[in-house]
Amino acid sequence: MEYLMGIDLGTSGIRVVLFDSACRQICEATREYPLYQPQNGWAEQDADDWYRAAVAAIGEVLNTSGVAAEKIVGLGLSGQMHGLVMLDAEGIPLRRAILWCDQRTAGQCRTITERVGAQKLLEITCNPALTGFTAGKILWVREHEPEVYAACRHILLPKDYLRYKFTGVFACDVSDASGMQLLDVPHRRWSQEVLQALEISPSLLADVYESPQITGNISPEAAALTGLSEGTAVVGGAGDNAAAAVGMGVVRDGRAFTSIGTSGVVYAHTDQLRTDPLGRVHTFCCAVPGAWHVMGVMQAAGLSMQWLRNNFYPGDSEYAQINSDAAQTPIGANRLLYLPYLMGERTPHLDADCRGAFVGLSAMHTRKDMARAVMEGVTYGLCDSLAILEEMGVKPAQMLACGGGAKSPLWRQMLADAFACPVRTSQQPNSAALGAAILAGVGVGLYPSVPQACDAILRYGATAEPDAGRSRAYRDVYAVYTSLYPALKAPFAALKKLP
Ligand code: XUL
Repeated sequence: MEYLMGIDLGTSGIRVVLFDSACRQICEATREYPLYQPQNGWAEQDADDWYRAAVAAIGEVLNTSGVAAEKIVGLGLSGQMHGLVMLDAEGIPLRRAILWCDQRTAGQCRTITERVGAQKLLEITCNPALTGFTAGKILWVREHEPEVYAACRHILLPKDYLRYKFTGVFACDVSDASGMQLLDVPHRRWSQEVLQALEISPSLLADVYESPQITGNISPEAAALTGLSEGTAVVGGAGDNAAAAVGMGVVRDGRAFTSIGTSGVVYAHTDQLRTDPLGRVHTFCCAVPGAWHVMGVMQAAGLSMQWLRNNFYPGDSEYAQINSDAAQTPIGANRLLYLPYLMGERTPHLDADCRGAFVGLSAMHTRKDMARAVMEGVTYGLCDSLAILEEMGVKPAQMLACGGGAKSPLWRQMLADAFACPVRTSQQPNSAALGAAILAGVGVGLYPSVPQACDAILRYGATAEPDAGRSRAYRDVYAVYTSLYPALKAPFAALKKLP
């Protein structure tokens, strides 16, 4: 029997999963690491925390499974997108990585738009300049930490730092590279035009591969440290959402999924390149060679739940109490609304300065209403993304759901009712790690193509059907929700200016 390994480098922790050659999960291990927020709206992690966590989790998987490392024929990487890792000439990180949810780069985004031109940027990178994306972070470091920029020889995305540590190779894949704002997304290669306009040397960037392509092999040093076998093939892999799409079978037109991880995503596959002329949803290369995806992203989905738990439900590690409280509260949370903009918002507002809010708070409300309001507020944020995809002509007949939030039957039913569309789960957990392993399976020749691999491997679970009455009730609350951001936009900007 041959085996495949999928690794998903998330924002709160890393998950290493071992699969057999039919992609049945054998065992998994996770490790957490800290998130640093040195200022309001900033978010950083230590790249070596990721590597230490990866080594520990791989060791645990090898030990508990008892599978001989030589039997693992391929390894796929998936990870949080957009993060900036800067290495010196020796391959040592020069500073903490600046993460996807960091919002410090509004000024640099204006510079990018001026230098490249708004229309050109949309044509080439398929997205407007966004604070979450990597290019703005590179410009920020150049402006604020010139000595770091001067010493930088390699720029990598988070999962590609692990690849470098595993294989010694500087490589990335098209799906993750799409989120750097430096890729020519229609042609799937670095854009010389954007690089020139921003005066970023192409020599700093890694080589770009399609997701199932082999990018390198486990080095003798990494083998000694991790217990993996020297020479094991490491494929391109994918950004976490594109990898989860593979792990959910969203690899053909008409298929879509929503994910509630730290961020929240509504993602649809598309064989034809489509972009939102207003740039409210992203268009990226997907992990199926030659295809793309459109995706709305909210910054703080699971993060809102984590914040609620940490502050009001300490010890509720599995969110069981929050779910039970929310289930006992009616739709609309007794007229309490929550805006999930803890880290600014991407879809649909593209506003780094907005922040979260409870609106309608009354002396009669309890934390139960707050729990319901937070789950609903995140759901309405996802409705905003779906509405834009529908405007673009992408109308999924059913929605798959993944991520920590999708484990909650209450939340899946809420999504089905609020989306007015059936919501289904996959029988296989850990979609992003599974997707990465499937890509490895295709790369080493166990499967002929990504869609064929998905057909052979994936099985689906329960479906939550929408209820017309509840859908109407959510629609009424959603109408009030959508009126709040325009009313609060100016106060949010004024708040930002306060000392
Ligand atoms: C996608 C995005 C997030 C991160 C979180 O554009 O920023 O989904 O990948 O992991």
